[in-house]
Amino acid sequence: MPYDDRYARMNELVKDRHLLANLPLLKGVDLGVATFDRLKASTNYFLWDCLSTWYGDKSPPFCDNMLTEYEDLVRGLPNKTPNGILLPKRDVYASYNVVHKIVSEILAEHGLPRFFKQMMPINVRIVDGSDRDIDMRPTSPTRPHVEMWVGFPSNALVCLFPIFGNTRNVDVKFYEPREFPPDYQRALETYEHGLPLLEGATQYDAHFDPGAMYLMDSFLIHHTHKTGPGLRLSVDFMCVYENPIASDANTTMTRTVDMLSPDEWVEIGRKRLWYAPMKLQGYVPQNTLYKHPAALELIKMER
Ligand SMILES: [Fe+2]
Repeated sequence: MPYDDRYARMNELVKDRHLLANLPLLKGVDLGVATFDRLKASTNYFLWDCLSTWYGDKSPPFCDNMLTEYEDLVRGLPNKTPNGILLPKRDVYASYNVVHKIVSEILAEHGLPRFFKQMMPINVRIVDGSDRDIDMRPTSPTRPHVEMWVGFPSNALVCLFPIFGNTRNVDVKFYEPREFPPDYQRALETYEHGLPLLEGATQYDAHFDPGAMYLMDSFLIHHTHKTGPGLRLSVDFMCVYENPIASDANTTMTRTVDMLSPDEWVEIGRKRLWYAPMKLQGYVPQNTLYKHPAALELIKMER
């Protein structure tokens, strides 16, 4: 098998965990009701913070599911990028840090940070099932892709938490390619250049269901699959493994993105904060192919 070393690495990550999805390059770790409730509460509060800051007197009352209750207002938020990232801004950075704190605690609870040398700030992402125009872009997440094609290294892992919304209308599909030649383990101009790898790939029988933390190997081709209207909110981020394995052909990251050591990352929301200096305003398009769109500053709390 070409991926024996990757299968072993994935299994090592989730040893002794209760899994809701168990495929060779994709694991869904059961969060448990109490932990998932904390994650829901914190992301819902971050979304409420964005809505109430932006809409002021016209902002909607708080409820348990701001995303599906106020879809149109959510669509109108100015800090949502074309790829759906709800950017932290200085007016709402405090509630973003609370979400980060909960996610950091989840990773720590499952013993994951020790595997990595670098971890990325979390993205809170909202994908719109009704918005098809945006999907024409060459790096739209609705096109089959892997994160290596935007500059992440081979020795990386994607962590994903679907939380709110219609995750069957806005689902994710996964394909394990037969092989992943080193020449494809790098940034590509468009995702289309990677399509030959889909030939003969195995589609996974898996969905993007709330309640689990999905851990996805960097070789697993995936894309957002929209079959109906509605919004979906999830959290995602990348981690880079400390020790590359034989099939990790490219360990150089060409994407410019804030990365922290695991020791720093687990302190977010407690001893450290991400601060976003820009105010909540219209999204300013930039060359995001190699850049994380949030300009974040890390603040260490002194005492
Ligand atoms: Fe992706």
